[in-house]
Amino acid sequence: MTEREPDSGARLAWRGGVPVSARFEDPYFSLDDGLAETRHVFLAGNGLPGRFRPGFRIAELGFGTGLNMLAAWIAWREAGVAGPLRYTGFEAFPLSAAETRAALAAFPEVAAVGGPLLDALGRGEARIEAEGLSAEIVPGDARDTLPRWQGRADAWFLDGFAPAKNPELWGDALMAEVARHTAPGGSFATYTAAGHVRRALEQAGFSVTRLPGYGRKRHMSRGTLPA
Ligand SMILES: C[S@@+](CC[C@H](N)C(=O)[O-])C[C@H]1O[C@@H](n2cnc3c(N)ncnc32)[C@H](O)[C@@H]1O
Repeated sequence: MTEREPDSGARLAWRGGVPVSARFEDPYFSLDDGLAETRHVFLAGNGLPGRFRPGFRIAELGFGTGLNMLAAWIAWREAGVAGPLRYTGFEAFPLSAAETRAALAAFPEVAAVGGPLLDALGRGEARIEAEGLSAEIVPGDARDTLPRWQGRADAWFLDGFAPAKNPELWGDALMAEVARHTAPGGSFATYTAAGHVRRALEQAGFSVTRLPGYGRKRHMSRGTLPA
């Protein structure tokens, strides 16, 4: 691995074009095909695009490179839903525009729509407004920022690094905050099937199921709140 751009604070290293966190010693997305993983885990896992409707709101723990947001926006545009997709990404260590551009370069379809995100990052802004997208990156530790968030998501992407390496983003109290910030009938999806994460989400009120995971991962998890 080679170190590059340590200035954003994210402390990235790179493995075969995939950004890897030197801080958490874990890749930002699948080393095989990050976009296919996003579509399997976070979109299909939340019943998307089928559940999209005007005003739909997605929230994400661990915004990272924005790959998940841009994949969701592509799906939103293809679905032809009126108005913007509303998206909130919580992120403790925001990447720079240059790091984000480098990370998305592996996915031409995503890089092609990355302009508004890169422009916002380049200007040091947290809001991304584009046709069909109204998004915000909330900087800081999600354990501090989520309890103060006023919104409620229809779908959550729970995408911290592996729970064993990034336990801060998977604790019981934070999972309870996820449930508190979910609309009735709302859902979450995550690539992990770790028992303590599933139990915390069940305890928080979600009905949790295990599904086949992406690639080498045998299982993933999804859950819904009562309508
Ligand atoms: C697996 S990566 C997310 C990948 C991302 N969803 C994407 O599409 O590229 C995990 C992210 O969680 C962030 N993170 C870790 N601990 C955090 C915390 N306590 N609060 C907020 N974000 C955190 C990391 O900085 C990293 O960007």
